[in-house]
Amino acid sequence: MSNTNSNLSKWSVASRLFHWISAALLLITWVMMFLHNNLDGSLYIGLHKSFGVSLLFWMVARVINRIFTKSPPLPPMPTWQVLVSKLSHFSLYALLIAMPMVGILMSVYGGRPVDVFGLFQIPVFVSTDRGLARFYNDVHVDIIWQMILVFTALHIGAALYHQFVKKDNLLSRMK
Ligand code: HEM
Ligand code: HEM
Repeated sequence: MSNTNSNLSKWSVASRLFHWISAALLLITWVMMFLHNNLDGSLYIGLHKSFGVSLLFWMVARVINRIFTKSPPLPPMPTWQVLVSKLSHFSLYALLIAMPMVGILMSVYGGRPVDVFGLFQIPVFVSTDRGLARFYNDVHVDIIWQMILVFTALHIGAALYHQFVKKDNLLSRMK
């Protein structure tokens, strides 16, 4: 019985796949940067860029899917929590799209085309500008990345709160 009920309030299979594969791509993109910082060679920065660009495509598809998806009815909660969750979900979408776009801008303004898994290249479509490359580098590392960390921590914190404090089974909507 309760199973049938909780199935009714789940996100669609597509939405769940989009969610968890985005989270996995974000993790992998970060791991590649971590490896790049700690190992020699140019393999991992190339993979960082490739996974980052993949995440951009994935997020664009995810937003299109989201526009056509009805969200399942929420468990009862105060209005301010609904508002904060909507705002932070919107921010996460915006940040995960802005991050790889800024990464691409950093590269091309630095005069480097972006190779994606050796499959295709994003050419240098701007005139090289070291100042702008530096600027986008700072935005990538010092602003957007820090915001991704904060919003992701809030997001996972909220999921843990629903799971272990409110015990309202919100997590099962996304499982
Ligand atoms: C959502 C996707 C992305 C995430 C989460 C991400 C994350 C990061 C992080 C955390 C760093 C800082 C590493 C550190 O110094 O501690 C970084 C650096 C860098 N990222 Fe990304 N990145 C993404 C996409 C991209 C893309 C698409 C490109 C290029 C096409 C790119 C190019 C770079 C470069 C060149 C650096 C090195 C900057 C430096 O050494 O100062 N990133 N990225
Ligand atoms: C352990 C990690 C994570 C858990 C447990 C988790 C859990 C959840 C849950 C339960 C929901 C559904 C909320 C609802 O039904 O209203 C959700 C939605 C969402 N999650 Fe996560 N999540 C995790 C990681 C991430 C990461 C890393 C990101 C991206 C940085 C992310 C982005 C989103 C977004 C944008 C939504 C909103 C979907 C929408 O309403 O359109 N999640 N997450």
